[in-house]
Amino acid sequence: MAYSMDIENAGKAVEIINQLAIFLRTARIHNISNSAVIAATDKFVDLVNELIDLEHTIVIEIRGEYLYFNANRIRYCPEHLLNLDYLIREFKKIEIGTIIIHSKISPEHIRIFIELFLKSDQSEAPFEYMRKGMSGIFCIELKKIQDISEDNFDRKKIARKTYFNAVSSYKDMFQKVRSDEKINLKKAKRIITSVIGQIIEQEQILLGITTIKDYDEYTYYHSANVSILSVALGRRMGMNHKMLIDLGMVSLFHDLGKIKIPYEVLNKPAKLSESEWSIVKNHPKWGVKSILKMRSLDPLTMNAALVAFEHHMNIDHSGYPQIKHRGELDLFSRIVSIADQYDAMISKRVYTKYPMSPDKALRELMEKSGDKLDSLILKFFVNMVGLYPIGTLVVLNSRELGLVYENNQEALHRPRIMIISDNNGNWISGPVVDLKEKNGNSGYLRTIIKTMHPKQYNINLAEYFL
Ligand SMILES: [Fe+2]
Ligand SMILES: [Fe+2]
Repeated sequence: MAYSMDIENAGKAVEIINQLAIFLRTARIHNISNSAVIAATDKFVDLVNELIDLEHTIVIEIRGEYLYFNANRIRYCPEHLLNLDYLIREFKKIEIGTIIIHSKISPEHIRIFIELFLKSDQSEAPFEYMRKGMSGIFCIELKKIQDISEDNFDRKKIARKTYFNAVSSYKDMFQKVRSDEKINLKKAKRIITSVIGQIIEQEQILLGITTIKDYDEYTYYHSANVSILSVALGRRMGMNHKMLIDLGMVSLFHDLGKIKIPYEVLNKPAKLSESEWSIVKNHPKWGVKSILKMRSLDPLTMNAALVAFEHHMNIDHSGYPQIKHRGELDLFSRIVSIADQYDAMISKRVYTKYPMSPDKALRELMEKSGDKLDSLILKFFVNMVGLYPIGTLVVLNSRELGLVYENNQEALHRPRIMIISDNNGNWISGPVVDLKEKNGNSGYLRTIIKTMHPKQYNINLAEYFL
């Protein structure tokens, strides 16, 4: 399930990495002011700046024996083999694991990088030496190489970290907006970049984590979940890296207008009155105001404002706010509205004692297909979360009880299940079984008979997914 960069961009990615190796190799042989080094550096800068416009961020990473460019593994071809190999060896020596280029660079930045690179062998802590030297250059970030065995050992841990980082930085941003402080959008972009990386690597694990809800901090968790679901959906629809970053940022801010809803209304443990409900319905409009106040009117800001405004509108123009001029809803708005409704339905809220089970929520969304929700995008969504979304409680014909743990893309009705109660009714935690597994007579070992509501068994999903 590889995320595919545009073919043209993939070609540029190889060229950029190759060029990086060329100027470092040349600089090792000659000195830094040699004309071949300068020419190679200039070419690298041009290539990077051209691609930054399209992909927003460039992440070059070493994992094991491979190089990755914006989470795509670089395929070795004979003409580049020596250069790529050189790069991996040199970076491992210095312990550089990742180079992130956040914005356009200049030849001067690269000259500093080369100087540090050449001198780093004399340092006892080469990575720290390089990072310190680069600390004033904000467009380039270096990360230390990770222990790959540990990386494989606990991939879930990394997904978890990405998730909680997203929640806590959203909380931080939300509070800054509330107190009229400037927020750091670069940080948000970094978070989204790592979310995208995780979705490419382990979509199902990250989707599993979004089933975790926190009732008191609903808005923060909800915003992170909607952003993760939207980005995952965008990737399924074939969006490129830049579009995914934009979608991630825009969806993160969809409910920003909620800061203006009084606490007693937002957290009322009972049904809202007519007048309270009309206050809530203002949050799309307030969202637009807060977003526009946040920064200059660039296209991303405008898009975020539009999505904040449209995310409760339906494609048949029902929903809110009601407006006179009815055009087609923005693509991002249509995506965010599906992610938003799904996450809201399966979340426990102050006023709903029990959230809806994920499969029921999916069925409700499917009923709105075509008139309220975009049917094509919804199809991608169903394919992504599966017929039995992660976290659904199922009864098996083996008389075991289990939670959907991961989807099987080739057989959406036969997901992988974590058994939580054995056929004698004893509560257990695992194993994870595959419903595609067959018995000797070519029948299936286990099959889902029906789904149940977790409330009937008082099951806390977080216990199983954390
Ligand atoms: Fe909303
Ligand atoms: Fe929302």
